[in-house]
This record gives sequence, structure tokens and C-alpha cells, in this order.
Amino acid sequence: MPTITAQGKTFECQLGANLRQALLDYDVDLYSPRANYVNCMGIGTCGTCAVSIEGKVSEVNWRDRTRRSLPPHQPHAARRLACQTQVLGDIRVTKYTGFWGHEDRIAWKPEGFV
Ligand code: FES
Repeated sequence: MPTITAQGKTFECQLGANLRQALLDYDVDLYSPRANYVNCMGIGTCGTCAVSIEGKVSEVNWRDRTRRSLPPHQPHAARRLACQTQVLGDIRVTKYTGFWGHEDRIAWKPEGFV
């Protein structure tokens, strides 16, 4: 089973698990505080579940690519939408600041808060 390391927690998930659901299941703060209450619940339209990922995950799908092509996201930033990503191996996840997690400052790293 793949291992996810995020916000100081390390836990296992099923191969192919949805990254958003896995993070929420383990109480990882996937969303910024306000986005925690205002998000699309994983259908790939709000863009607030953006994270950077080290490790093996699914290819970028059209929802992920399309949403991250729109401001305030930068299409070439190394981010993924957790709700549109399947876990295919051991991964490490980093979250950035901003309502959409789109800024350059790190909110939390795999090892925990900065
Ligand atoms: S939860 Fe809205 S795009 Fe992922």
C-alpha cells in the first residue's frame, strides 16, 4: 500500500486512492481556513485543493489542467488538484498559502508546519 506523508503525518492508502479523500480521512488541512468551508467538494472546479506532490501519482486529467490554467493559479506551477489525483506510490505532499493554495509561501510541508 502506498504511503502518504503530509503535514507531519504518515499514513497508508489503497493503491489508486483519491488524494483529497485520503488527506481528509487523516485530518490533514488540505484547504486554507476559509476554503475549508467554501470548496467544490472534489468535483475539480474550485481549485482550492492545490498541492505539490513528490512521488508517483496519476497523470494530469483535463479537469485538473483546465482549472489550474485559470487565475489565480499559474498553469506551469508544479501543483496538482488533490481531488483529481490518484495515489500510485509513496508520495510527499506540500501545501502553499493563499485561498487556493496558489501562493509561493509554504503553509505546511510533508514533515509538518514551517
Ligand atoms: S476540491 Fe475543488 S478543485 Fe479540488
